[in-house]
Order: sequence, then C-alpha cells, then structure tokens
Amino acid sequence: MENNNTPCEGCRPGESTGRRRFLSQLSIGLSVLGGLVVSIPVLGAFLQPLLKKSMPSWRALGSVSDYEVGKTLLVRFEDGEVLSWARSISHSAAWLRRLDENSFEAFAINCAHLGCPVRWEESSSLFLCPCHGGVYYKNGEVAAGPPLRGLSRYSVRVRKGKVEILTRGIPITTLTS
Ligand code: FES
Repeated sequence: MENNNTPCEGCRPGESTGRRRFLSQLSIGLSVLGGLVVSIPVLGAFLQPLLKKSMPSWRALGSVSDYEVGKTLLVRFEDGEVLSWARSISHSAAWLRRLDENSFEAFAINCAHLGCPVRWEESSSLFLCPCHGGVYYKNGEVAAGPPLRGLSRYSVRVRKGKVEILTRGIPITTLTS
C-alpha cells in the first residue's frame, strides 16, 4: 500500500505525493470553475434570444387622419423584437391600407416565397416581388408566381385617434405552407 506522506521523486524537501496530488486536483478544479464563470455568461448571451419568448407589442403609426381612405402606404415602426443586449433600436416596415373611417389592414413587406421586399403598384393595385415574379392582390392573397401563400398580416387597431400595429416575429420563408 502506497504511503501518501512519503517524499516523492522530484519533490522539494518535506513535500509528499499526497500533497502534490491534492494541489494538482485543486488546480484542475479551480481551472474548471474559472472556465465556467467565464463561459456561462457568454453562452447565456448567445442563447438568450433563442430561448426568450417574444412578446407582441403595439407600435404607434401616427394619427388616423394621416392616412387617406383606400391608399396603401409604406410605414416604418420600431421592431417588436429588439435584442436588449444589442443596445440599439431596430426598425421594421409594413404596407398599411386605410379601408374606411376606422379600419386598417397591414401586410409584411417580405414576399412569402423567399423573403424579398415586395413593392406596391398603385396603378394595378398589386404587390409585386422583383425576385421571382411573385404577385399579390391588394388583400395580400397570391395572384401569380411561386409564393404558396399570401403576405403575412399584422393586426392593426385604432386607439384614441391613433393607428397602432401589433409587432412580432413574422416568418419570412415558408416554402411548404
Ligand atoms: S422571393 Fe418573391 S417571388 Fe421569390
């Protein structure tokens, strides 16, 4: 049986194999602990956006009187999914149409095929995608081209004379739906 207190080869006077092993294990343990202390916050920062459940939020788009009935306009608003650690405010956009005195509808600007931005063509009342010829009617439904579904919609409401849009993550690419 090994005596842990016996002097070892290469040890300083008074040093034993048991003490040497203890110091070695302590050193490894402290290294692992140090690695965890550094890596957990870094991993957390990368994984937080994936794990965080995004909360929809209403964003102001101005007064109802800013919009003409029957017109479709591009509106910009603060993104609903700003990453807190990015310390910046990102913006998003939508196509907004005033239907009558108090109702609006809004569509994502991204094509439901591969996500290119669609543009509104007033003369033909169509949304056109420049990438692969996707075409949508003014109600967002597919008129022609490769998209398999219509433009994503936003919820819109009127509160105290102000137009508000409900922002949240909208799927850009849906080839199978
Ligand atoms: S991205 Fe619009 S048709 Fe392909």
